[in-house]
Amino acid sequence: MNKAEVLKEIIEQRRSIFPKDYTENEIPQNIIDEILNSATFAPNHKRTKPWRFKIFKGEEKAKLASEMQAIYKASQPEQLFLEKKYNDIGFKINKADAVASIVVNFSGMVPEWEEIAAVSMAVQNMYLTCTANGIGSYWSSPKIVEQLKESLTIEENQKCLGLFYMGISNVAI
Ligand SMILES: Cc1cc2nc3c(=O)[nH]c(=O)nc-3n(C[C@H](O)[C@H](O)[C@H](O)COP(=O)(O)O)c2cc1C
Repeated sequence: MNKAEVLKEIIEQRRSIFPKDYTENEIPQNIIDEILNSATFAPNHKRTKPWRFKIFKGEEKAKLASEMQAIYKASQPEQLFLEKKYNDIGFKINKADAVASIVVNFSGMVPEWEEIAAVSMAVQNMYLTCTANGIGSYWSSPKIVEQLKESLTIEENQKCLGLFYMGISNVAI
């Protein structure tokens, strides 16, 4: 296949794959590095490089799961609290081998939407690099990520746009 055919195939194959379809196997560190590296090639106006990604694995990931569950519980009126949803938040983070927080840093040099667009393109690069490596991934954007404090330092000029889940895929990519 020539380059154009390879690119077309990866773009067309990319799908959101959810933690229930990840194996227990670990993603090799060099592939995680490559996923993050690909993000940094996204176009960005005035070279503000507005993306901030933090990778959670192991113990830190377990703490992230607990914090997300605690935020969900605290933000729900008791009658709206769903045990299933609470458990699902923990299940998804624990089932993923690695989770990246997706944060946009607003530089003030360009409109905010341009920096969100640049971060989104960076995430697309991550999605495509995952696809090319047989890694399942997806962008999750629950509003409660904006309240993360212990797992993540979000500065005044930053906003958390969600979590990017990754795991070796059980389903054919
Ligand atoms: C900005 C953004 C936020 C998303 N947030 C969620 C989410 O919170 N929950 C979810 O299940 N999927 C989320 N997704 C994934 C979409 O649901 C998914 O891309 C869509 O269903 C199309 O499927 P595909 O990615 O396989 O093409 C998000 C995607 C984007 C681009």
